[in-house]
Amino acid sequence: MLVSMPFSLLAFVAVAVAYREPAGHEYQKPGPNDSRSPCPGLNALANHGYLPRSGENMTVPQILSAAKQGFNMNWDVIQAAAKQGLLSRDDEGSDSVLSLEPLALHGLIEIDGSHSRDDYRDGTGDNLHFNSTIYNSWLAVSNPGVDYYNTTSAGWTMYHRLQYSLQTNPNVTNAQHDVFGRAGTSALYLSVMGNTTSGVAKKEFVDIFFREERLPFLEGWSPSKILITAASVGALVPTIFEASNWTQTDHCEPIVLGPNSIFNTAA
Ligand code: HEM
Ligand SMILES: *[C@@H]1O[C@H](CO)[C@@H](O)[C@H](O)[C@H]1NC(C)=O
Ligand SMILES: *[C@@H]1O[C@H](CO)[C@@H](O)[C@H](O)[C@H]1NC(C)=O
Ligand SMILES: *[C@@H]1O[C@H](CO)[C@@H](O)[C@H](O)[C@H]1NC(C)=O
Ligand SMILES: *[C@@H]1O[C@H](CO)[C@@H](O)[C@H](O)[C@H]1NC(C)=O
Ligand SMILES: *[C@@H]1O[C@H](CO)[C@@H](O)[C@H](O)[C@H]1NC(C)=O
Ligand SMILES: *[C@@H]1O[C@H](CO)[C@@H](O)[C@H](O)[C@H]1NC(C)=O
Ligand SMILES: *[C@@H]1O[C@H](CO)[C@@H](O)[C@H](O)[C@H]1NC(C)=O
Repeated sequence: MLVSMPFSLLAFVAVAVAYREPAGHEYQKPGPNDSRSPCPGLNALANHGYLPRSGENMTVPQILSAAKQGFNMNWDVIQAAAKQGLLSRDDEGSDSVLSLEPLALHGLIEIDGSHSRDDYRDGTGDNLHFNSTIYNSWLAVSNPGVDYYNTTSAGWTMYHRLQYSLQTNPNVTNAQHDVFGRAGTSALYLSVMGNTTSGVAKKEFVDIFFREERLPFLEGWSPSKILITAASVGALVPTIFEASNWTQTDHCEPIVLGPNSIFNTAA
């Protein structure tokens, strides 16, 4: 007993010192009146206080700055989405602020075939909250036998998740806006939970990000060492898209979100 005690003490100290949440940015579950979105990225930033924990009335610059602080992500990755998000509210006084829950507005940014949310289903599906049935449905086919996701597994995930929607949702929307949304958000989880250059992310970290909307500091995660940019995220998207064997069942006009939007020239 006497002999083993110093060892266990040492082990305890080592773990406690190695992995800590940054002061002031500890994870807290949202309270009953806090607003949360269909986006695990924004929700995690709010759950760690990089965004207001209320999830309400945030400006675009505030969101870009939170992403820089929490993920080491450059403004150019999410500026268009954040500006688009301003359209999710139309109450007086919402000209320059947005809140998280309204981002579930179907068809604005929110799409069918999401990794962790149910489809909108003509208003009967819950497209806002994490849904474990949806999320668990693709885990088994996504890089079985290894402990990481990559662009290939992200494509498989998209393929299988879409088959589920096509089979169970008579109201599914599956056009270029949707598939690039899915490939884009795949590139985002690989980039923020893993390596934005290689597109490889530990499953453990991705799992905590989706299920708890928590940044896994305590498990050894830290924000990307290199700045995550529109170029680094954008470079992963075509590979993920190719691996997804997309079957298009709807068509839409190109959606112009800015001079350099990936949707501008979509088929
Ligand atoms: C801060 C960095 C961000 C990261 C890491 C991130 C990550 C993600 C991921 C991984 C998803 C897919 C969720 C799923 O498929 O279940 C997603 C969805 C979504 N994100 Fe974000 N996001 C970020 C910023 C933003 C911004 C700035 C907005 C708009 C203000 C936004 C709005 C949304 C919306 C509305 C969805 C739902 C899309 C869907 O239906 O799948 N996100 N995001
Ligand atoms: C949430 O809002 C309700 C209604 O306004 C209020 O009664 C309650 O105290 C609030 N809860 C918290 C934790 O702020
Ligand atoms: C956000 O702004 C609305 C008015 O636009 C207000 O009712 C609400 O209380 C604000 N929320 C917070 C957390 O300040
Ligand atoms: C999760 O999604 C499944 C599949 O569409 C649905 O049957 C189930 O009711 C959803 N669960 C919750 C809690 O919304
Ligand atoms: C992703 O990982 C799987 C499993 O190790 C591997 O077969 C596949 O080639 C990898 N994809 C890329 C793009 O490296
Ligand atoms: C996509 O198609 C290729 C070629 O037919 C095939 O090897 C691959 O397994 C398919 N991937 C998925 C996710 O179905
Ligand atoms: C959704 O699908 C049902 C069943 O096919 C159909 O009756 C309904 O009109 C559809 N709604 C929309 C908005 O497409
Ligand atoms: C990320 O991946 C790139 C390309 O494979 C590699 O050169 C780099 O060392 C990796 N970064 C980290 C932090 O592992």
